[in-house]
Amino acid sequence: MNTHALGTIYGDDQDVLAAQSARYRQAREGFLARFGPGPVMAFRTPGRINLIGEHTDYNGGFVMPVALDKDVLFLVRPRQDSTVRAINSESAFAPFAFALSAEIPPAPHGDWSNYFRGAGGEICRRFGEQVPIKGMDVLVSGTAPYGVSRGSGLSSSTALTVNAALALVTLNEIPVSRPDLAHLCSEAEWYVGTRGGMMDQFSALLGRRDHALFLDCRPSPQGIYALDHVPVPDSVQIVLLNSGVRHENVRGAFNQRVAECKIGVKLLQSGYPTITHLRDATPETLELSESDFWTMLEDVLPVRASHEALIRRGLDRRWLEDLIADHRLAAGVPFEVLPRCRHVITENERVLAGVTALRAGQVETFGHLMDAAHISMRDDYGASCPEVDTLVEIAWRQPCVLGARITGAGWGGGVAALVRRGRGADWIDDVRSAYERTTGLTPEIIVCRPGDGAGQVENLSLG
Ligand code: GLA
Repeated sequence: MNTHALGTIYGDDQDVLAAQSARYRQAREGFLARFGPGPVMAFRTPGRINLIGEHTDYNGGFVMPVALDKDVLFLVRPRQDSTVRAINSESAFAPFAFALSAEIPPAPHGDWSNYFRGAGGEICRRFGEQVPIKGMDVLVSGTAPYGVSRGSGLSSSTALTVNAALALVTLNEIPVSRPDLAHLCSEAEWYVGTRGGMMDQFSALLGRRDHALFLDCRPSPQGIYALDHVPVPDSVQIVLLNSGVRHENVRGAFNQRVAECKIGVKLLQSGYPTITHLRDATPETLELSESDFWTMLEDVLPVRASHEALIRRGLDRRWLEDLIADHRLAAGVPFEVLPRCRHVITENERVLAGVTALRAGQVETFGHLMDAAHISMRDDYGASCPEVDTLVEIAWRQPCVLGARITGAGWGGGVAALVRRGRGADWIDDVRSAYERTTGLTPEIIVCRPGDGAGQVENLSLG
C-alpha cells in the first residue's frame, strides 16, 4: 500500500500512518473475500466537531464546525445494475442489498441501510431521469479510533450518507459541485426523519485541514452558500470528551425544537414582516435599542404555550396543524417558544463574535463564547443532559481548558473543549477520574485534528 497517499490525508505521524495502513489493508482483504478479485476504489468522509453554532443551521443562521481526521472509509466497486450491496467490518451491522430508484422503500427505523437508501433515492430523483443510476458493492470501515465514533456528536451518520452519495456520483460520472452535493445530502437525511440542517454535510464535504469552516446557512437568492475557512491557531487543540450517554429517540425532541423556532418566526412576522429567519431578529435590523428588543421578544413570544394558546395569539390553525404533521410531533406537548428563539438569536451572535476572535487569534475570547453557548444550550434550548453538564463543569475547572460546550444535536453525546496546547496531558486523567467518580461512566477522550473534507483516496494500488 502506498503510505504516501495516506500521509497527505492523515499527517506524518508514523504510528498513525501504520495504523491507517493496516486499516485500509484489512478493509481491502475483507472486500475481496466477500466480493471477489478485481479493482477496488476507496472513498472517505470525515466526522465533524462543531466549535460553535448549535441548532442555528436549520434556522438559516451561522455555524463553525471542524472536519476531523477521523473518517468513515468505503471500499467500493461499481456494478452494472442498480443494486447497492454493503457489508460492514463490524458484525453489529448486518449486510444489506437494495435496488436504486427514485422511491426506495425505507428499512425499519434505526437500520443503517437507511443512510444509503436516503442518498441513493435523492440522487435518482435529481439525476436519474437522464441516465439510469448504477449501483455498487461496498465495504464500510468506520470503527473508532480512526473511524468516527458513534453517538458522540461527531456526525457519523452524515459521514455514511455523504460517502454513499460521493461514491455514487463519482461512479456514475455525475458532475455536481461540493456545495450542491452537501445540500443534496442534507435533504437525503430527511429520509431518516430528522429535520436537521446542512452543517454536517457542508463540513464533511468542504472541511479543510487545520481550519474551521464558517458557514452562512442561508443561501443567496441564487442558491449560493457563503463560506470561509478560518485557521485554527497553533496554540490550541480541540478535544472531544464523549460523555458515554447515548440518548436514543432524540428525533421527537429535535423536531419539536425545529417547530418551536418556526413558530417564533411566524409570531414575530406579524409585527416585523421582514423577518424570514431568527437571524433577522436583532436590535440593529429592527432598529430597536438592546433593551427594547428583548422586551419586544418577551411580549411577542410565549415562554410556554399550548396549541390552542398559540391559535389565540393569532397563529393560523391550519398552518400549525400542518407544521405539527410535517414534523411528526407528539400531540399535546406545549411549545417553549421564547427560550428556544433566545438561544438561536444569541448563538448567531456568538458565532459571529467567535469568527472575529479566532481570526484575531483571541483564543480566550473564543473559549468564553463556547462556555456561554453551553449555558444557552442547557438552559434555553433544553438540549443537554445531567451527565454532559457534569462533564462540561469538570472541564471548565481545568486551567488549560479555554472553553467547553456540548457539541452536536445534544441530549447526550460529546463535549468540545478548546485546550491550550503544550500544557501536558495530566488534565485528561483529572477529567476522566472526576467524571468517573461523579457519574460512574468512563468518558472517551479524543484529541482532534482538523482534517480535509471527503474525497476519493487515489493512488493506493488497492486492486
Ligand atoms: C444535528 C443536525 C445538524 C444540526 C445539529 C445541531 O447534528 O444534523 O444539522 O442541526 O444537530 O446544531
